[in-house]
Amino acid sequence: MDLFAPVPAINQYLEDYLRATKMPANLRDAVLYAVMGGGKRLRPVLAWHSCVACGGDGADSLAAGAAVELVHAFSLVHDDLPALDNDDLRRGKPTLHKHAGEAMALLAGDMALTLAFRLLAEKSPREKVADLVYALSLGTSKMINGQILDTLGGFDSASTPQQKVDEVHLNKTGALIRAACLMGAFSADASDRNFAEVDAYAHRIGLMFQIVDDLIDVEQTAEHTGKRTGKDSEAGKLTYPAVHGVHGSRCIVTRLLSESLEAIAPLGPAADPLRILAQKMAHRTN
Ligand code: IPE
Ligand code: IPE
Ligand code: MG
Ligand code: MG
Ligand code: MG
Repeated sequence: MDLFAPVPAINQYLEDYLRATKMPANLRDAVLYAVMGGGKRLRPVLAWHSCVACGGDGADSLAAGAAVELVHAFSLVHDDLPALDNDDLRRGKPTLHKHAGEAMALLAGDMALTLAFRLLAEKSPREKVADLVYALSLGTSKMINGQILDTLGGFDSASTPQQKVDEVHLNKTGALIRAACLMGAFSADASDRNFAEVDAYAHRIGLMFQIVDDLIDVEQTAEHTGKRTGKDSEAGKLTYPAVHGVHGSRCIVTRLLSESLEAIAPLGPAADPLRILAQKMAHRTN
């Protein structure tokens, strides 16, 4: 099964939308650079397969998936800025602020974020707009909360390091992955029960995804990943390997994977792509 078969359709949808939307040519170039320059497209692919798992047609998730990807692209552009992670390399190319300057990176990020919601309003079925906008705005605001905790702190003073790292990861990364899956389920008119099953799956794979990202930062090279590695410990970030160790982190990935599979067991064969995706996400190296 080719799990990533929807990617060409997702890319075409994103590119067509960005080219059809009025903006100055230099801003369009910057937004296209940030959005179209590679990336695994995991969030739209999750939206697609969540839609299928709930009995829908995957193509009905395209607006939802493209909107989540626009928010994701915005989050990466701002994450890489000197004031945050100060990274020069993203998806094997110079980061947007290196390519086009900081002012453009700030504003292109703002534009990608705004277009995500505009796209939902313009392209999704009227009766679904409110649910989709709500799910994406919740995921985005949690992502920003997570980025604050990751960058500037602000935890409850009573939290343990284990609680802190979970709060960072569930928010900065998990919430947008969860939004992608839920928006896919909304796109399929999922029943309440199927929606809850996809939600339980998404919660676990969202946390798992960032744990694996932390492990990749420790174990892989920039040549392999297309982004700088070894940067988390250098920056003193609160990561899973720092709190739980590499082996402990791997054990938690294994547990989250099996819990995610359990959550969608009732969905039957329609959820096979979600099962294989979760396995790939647990074992990915970039
Ligand atoms: C990277 O996300 C940032 C995190 C949330 C860990 P991805 O690993 O999905 O990045 P791309 O889109 O494939 O470049
Ligand atoms: C990214 O976390 C989370 C975002 C909201 C973008 P990281 O800072 O670990 O992501 P990378 O490693 O730069 O892709
Ligand atoms: Mg970061
Ligand atoms: Mg970063
Ligand atoms: Mg990282």
